[in-house]
Amino acid sequence: MKRYSGIFVVVLLACAAGGWMFFGCVPDEKAPSQDTMQDEEDYIVIGLSQIGSESDWRNANTGSFRSEFTAENGYYLLFEDAQQKQENQLKAVRDLILQEVDYIILDPIVETGWDTVLMEAKDAGIPVILVDRQIVVEDEDLYTCWVGSDFREEGRRAGQWLADYLESQGRREEQIRIVTLQGTLDSSAQIGRTMGFQDVLSAHGNWEMLERRSGEFTQAKGQEVMRDLLQSHKEIDVLISENDNMTFGAIEAIESAGRTCGPDGDIIVISFDAVRTAIQFMQEGKINADFECNPLLGPKVSKIIEELEAGERVEKIQYIEEQYFDTSMDLEKILEERTY
Ligand code: AHR
Repeated sequence: MKRYSGIFVVVLLACAAGGWMFFGCVPDEKAPSQDTMQDEEDYIVIGLSQIGSESDWRNANTGSFRSEFTAENGYYLLFEDAQQKQENQLKAVRDLILQEVDYIILDPIVETGWDTVLMEAKDAGIPVILVDRQIVVEDEDLYTCWVGSDFREEGRRAGQWLADYLESQGRREEQIRIVTLQGTLDSSAQIGRTMGFQDVLSAHGNWEMLERRSGEFTQAKGQEVMRDLLQSHKEIDVLISENDNMTFGAIEAIESAGRTCGPDGDIIVISFDAVRTAIQFMQEGKINADFECNPLLGPKVSKIIEELEAGERVEKIQYIEEQYFDTSMDLEKILEERTY
């Protein structure tokens, strides 16, 4: 097993001497310090290229990796924040290759544009584990495996929930006008959720998609785009919001426009992620249903690495379990158990 090779120690020392900016690497706070690195051969070096910190989900996801890849667990984590830019992620992966990390974990912001850099990682003999979002590449052998959510299934479940809800409200035959706040365009989370909902929409002739616009998975953009949508479309029955933070922004826009939402309001709100704050919004009656996207991928990835270290084959595609929540459930109890 390769651990802290010569060049890596040189880079580490340079970084420790204040060269982090130059090398573009950021050590995890919980990574072993030089003093504690007596037995440095024992650490597995992980380079994580994270998308950014655009949402509560993303922060929970980063937290899951940080608490899993600790010195106590035998890891040294190099964390790279791409601040929502694919060019930063490409540079980060190249920096991690240069530093001869043992594994690269990549959460790809969009689906395309990864072939060349992944070929470079493969040539360097560094396994790449994809997390959360997926990619489209010519050669599937360019990455070891992927672990994350079935975004299309999340979108389908949301559509089916809406159909059942309208039925229960005696509105099955009514004309239903829908708007969608999409996530970062071309990300697999956006593509999957949009397609999954469309699968159900196509089967309902009385559902009309008035407009789909990207709110880039952020609260500020979600609020801005929802304000525009409310101005452009006087009658909106349903908002599909492809993540919770855009939903929080949208609710502010809805209320500022003097409109109401949730089970007793005029706009049905369906969201994705199901972070704690969203469950609290459901308790307040502002969100109708929320489809979980589980950010706690750290333990699953660490198990994959254990298997790879043991020379075992790993499943190429690994979905994580997910559920949904709506206002008919015991939300107080759900919040007690919710860790993000
Ligand atoms: O890729 C997962 C999505 O990205 C989450 O739904 C969203 O909150 C995040 O920004």
